[in-house]
Amino acid sequence: MRDIEDLTKSNKKYKDALVQNRFKSKKNIVAYVILNNKPRVLKWFVPGLKRQMKTEYDIIKKGSSKLNIPIIHEIDEKNNVLIMNYIIGENLCDIINNKNVTISEKQRLIILLAQWFFDFHNHFKTKEKFLIHGDPTLRNFIFTDRIWGLDFEETRTGKPVEDIAGMCASILTTEPMFNSEKFQLCKKFYEKYLNLAPGRINNVDNEISFSLLQKIQWRPNDEEILRKYSKLIRKKGTKNF
Ligand SMILES: Nc1ncnc2c1ncn2[C@@H]1O[C@H](COP(=O)(O)OP(=O)(O)O)[C@@H](O)[C@H]1O
Ligand SMILES: [Mg+2]
Repeated sequence: MRDIEDLTKSNKKYKDALVQNRFKSKKNIVAYVILNNKPRVLKWFVPGLKRQMKTEYDIIKKGSSKLNIPIIHEIDEKNNVLIMNYIIGENLCDIINNKNVTISEKQRLIILLAQWFFDFHNHFKTKEKFLIHGDPTLRNFIFTDRIWGLDFEETRTGKPVEDIAGMCASILTTEPMFNSEKFQLCKKFYEKYLNLAPGRINNVDNEISFSLLQKIQWRPNDEEILRKYSKLIRKKGTKNF
């Protein structure tokens, strides 16, 4: 497997990078490094994902002065690397799934998360279309004193409800999956968004049901439970859990 050392050892540009920590990542290599005495995140894209790197770069450039997202320090097109600031906080996925964090604190964060999406959608919307984050999972968010969004490789034109339902599916399907607390947080999340942007999203339950099915391709071992809840939510809606 490719590792961050393959980049730092073979490349003069990164030879002084001190690797502190490697993050969980599905596709790319993402690490916290000290570079020229500064804390940085280095995101090394797999060779086939150059287009995604450019998308992420463009979105961050256009959004970082207004939105809670990182700042890009450098794009290295030769090596497929983005260098951004390191946001020191806790991954939202770990907080939401921590049984020692109170439900009221989780609800507070989920409301901030809905506000983050509202700000993101507003920032990039034009008369004709919306841009959506495109990979709305809890792991792509960090909490410091506020919520920060990351990972804009999949950002594209789309319907805001895709982000909102996708995030609901992420809330419901991270361990512990589908318990009553998760349903509560899921409802809190989309209700807050509905409240901020009345009329902007419709048929949320159907979209959540669809998002759950879409997850099967990444999580074949959970196919049965994903199908089961997809069907239940389509029939009864999330309100009845
Ligand atoms: N700027 C950053 N500050 C702090 N942590 C980050 C930053 N960028 C990424 N991470 C961490 O690295 C993980 C993977 O990065 P991400 O951009 O989501 O890559 P991937 O596209 O491979 O999922 C994130 O889930 C997050 O925990
Ligand atoms: Mg990610």
